[in-house]
Amino acid sequence: MNESPKKSRRTIAFVGIVVLVAGATVAVTALLFNILERKCETANPYVRLVEVGEDDTDPEKWGNNWPQQYDSYKRTALTTRTRFGGHGGSEALPEEKIERDPWLKRMFLGYAFSIDYRDRRGHAYMLTDQSQTKRQTKPQSGSCMHCHASLMPVYRALGDGDALAGMNKTHKMSYQELNKMVHDMGHAHPVSCVDCHDPESMQLRVTRPAFMVGIQKLANSNAPVPSIPSIGIWRQGSRSHPYDPNTDATRTEMRSFACGQCHVEYYCSSAMPLTFPWANGLKMDDLEKTWNETKLPDGGRFFDYKHKESGAEILKAQHPEFELWSQGIHARSGVACADCHMAYMRDGASKVSDHWVRSPLLNVNRSCQTCHHFPEDELKARVETIQQSNYGLLQRGGAAITDLLDAIVAAKQAGATPEQLKPAQELQRKAQWRLDYIAAENSMGFHAPQEAARILGEAADYARQGQVEALRLIK
Ligand code: HEC
Ligand code: HEC
Ligand code: HEC
Ligand code: HEC
Ligand code: HEC
Repeated sequence: MNESPKKSRRTIAFVGIVVLVAGATVAVTALLFNILERKCETANPYVRLVEVGEDDTDPEKWGNNWPQQYDSYKRTALTTRTRFGGHGGSEALPEEKIERDPWLKRMFLGYAFSIDYRDRRGHAYMLTDQSQTKRQTKPQSGSCMHCHASLMPVYRALGDGDALAGMNKTHKMSYQELNKMVHDMGHAHPVSCVDCHDPESMQLRVTRPAFMVGIQKLANSNAPVPSIPSIGIWRQGSRSHPYDPNTDATRTEMRSFACGQCHVEYYCSSAMPLTFPWANGLKMDDLEKTWNETKLPDGGRFFDYKHKESGAEILKAQHPEFELWSQGIHARSGVACADCHMAYMRDGASKVSDHWVRSPLLNVNRSCQTCHHFPEDELKARVETIQQSNYGLLQRGGAAITDLLDAIVAAKQAGATPEQLKPAQELQRKAQWRLDYIAAENSMGFHAPQEAARILGEAADYARQGQVEALRLIK
């Protein structure tokens, strides 16, 4: 029997559909496999070729397992430069800040920062730059090493396994003594993988004891910390255990805490263990209050140095990036240091955090445009506006502090007694703390523009008030 043409057409159509469906199935399955494979790549983007543990401070060893992160980490040795970021000068020696801004040198007279104070640069240099600064011509304490080397195994050795106990011994050691110990024990590396990652799980973590103590004091205080919500949650709980960033903090918070181990205001000398002054909160005024409440071993009020010309008891501020960031809109919106300074890059299907920690302005595309859908030039212009106005206020503050010092020197020459000079000296302490706070902070105001402007406004006001007080003493 002959099949009707109609039936054979149906058969052809049927076979066609089967082939199509089969083809589509193969394609979809292949796609699924591909997606699955890529998902696996993302979840477990490495093969552990070598075991790493707590004492492995050499990043090269970790590089066997995580070559992408290690490769970008090594690039912190490259020179970077933006209008206000990175560093000027040569690769041998970054530019001297105290020569670029002579008022800085004047403010620091009587302290080692008036001898040598340069632009910062990449993480790769932290240990060499520290051991080579001419500030080392004055005796420095072992506490300095906390933020400039991968020294946790040394702390543990000094504290019989207890890193905090170990750290609490190092302020009495000289810088040279501890530096030699770090070298002898084989840990003379800049900040390394083990400082920010758990070697078992690769989870982000904090290791630095001074950060632990500082953040616990902050948690125990009543200070509002809207930019660190996990502290609020811990405060409402039973408080059966001390606040522990490694278990209580969110992943977003950890992406800033990792940097807060070092990019913070601190006190470091042989007088007491390294201290982060957060017992009253993270604002500039809270830090000042903590220092004012702190006593030196002789029972006197805390200060970093006596100003050579005026005799005022001065507070020196150091790189308060973590603190200033915490007062800005980005922190309030949950934007972490790593979002801007370690932006993700694509490598095949895996997202890799760029370990070339540097100015985000060199990388606006990945650092900012993930959230802000404006052209690169527009974003750079916004930063430029913030930084230029901050710079302008900073220079005005520098002029004001110089005039204040001139007035005090003149009052002294005119025979003013130490008792009479006291009000001007106290105003110098307040003015200089504020001015230095923003000068030493490394974002030129960007991390919290309004807060930076508030602080600089107060600095200029206190400096001018002090100048008036001193001028009054000249008959
Ligand atoms: C919203 C993005 C953003 C966040 C979040 C952020 N920063 Fe920045 N940071 C910047 C920008 C922009 C600059 C200015 C860079 C320049 O002038 O080249 C800067 C500058 C710096 C610098 C100086 C860089 C250089 O090249 O000299 C340091 C250090 C720094 N930030 C540390 C931190 C730390 C630590 C945190 C977290 C506590 C943080 N930043 C959070 C955007 C950010
Ligand atoms: C709490 C962490 C911390 C401690 C403690 C610390 N530093 Fe630093 N240091 C930093 C950070 C962060 C930078 C980069 C930012 C900057 O330069 O402002 C830096 C930069 C430097 C630089 C390069 C820029 C410059 O100032 O010329 C030198 C040198 C330096 N530190 C020396 C020292 C010495 C000496 C001590 C001990 C008195 C010390 N550091 C203690 C965190 C620390
Ligand atoms: C163990 C302490 C430590 C930790 C942790 C740390 N830094 Fe630094 N950072 C430093 C020191 C010290 C320098 C200055 C090195 C120098 O000038 O030799 C520095 C320099 C920088 C610079 C300037 C780079 C340049 O090219 O000029 C940036 C930006 C920066 N750090 C951001 C961060 C961020 C973001 C984090 C967290 C992901 C972080 N740092 C974690 C100590 C630290
Ligand atoms: C100053 C702190 C710091 C140091 C030092 C550091 N990392 Fe990271 N690393 C981070 C941060 C922040 C992230 C992002 C983690 C997150 O969001 O969970 C990260 C993420 C990673 C990840 C997860 C995948 C990714 O790229 O996001 C790996 C793997 C990693 N780092 C490897 C390394 C290795 C290897 C080294 C040493 C060569 C190293 N890290 C040094 C801070 C650091
Ligand atoms: C993870 C998201 C995120 C990233 C990354 C980010 N921002 Fe933002 N930015 C925000 C949010 C959220 C706000 C708050 C305003 C709002 O809600 O729109 C903000 C506000 C701002 C503001 C206005 C507020 C102010 O401080 O004056 C500027 C300017 C800005 N961002 C610039 C930048 C630049 C430049 C970068 C890269 C270095 C950057 N942002 C990276 C999310 C982000």
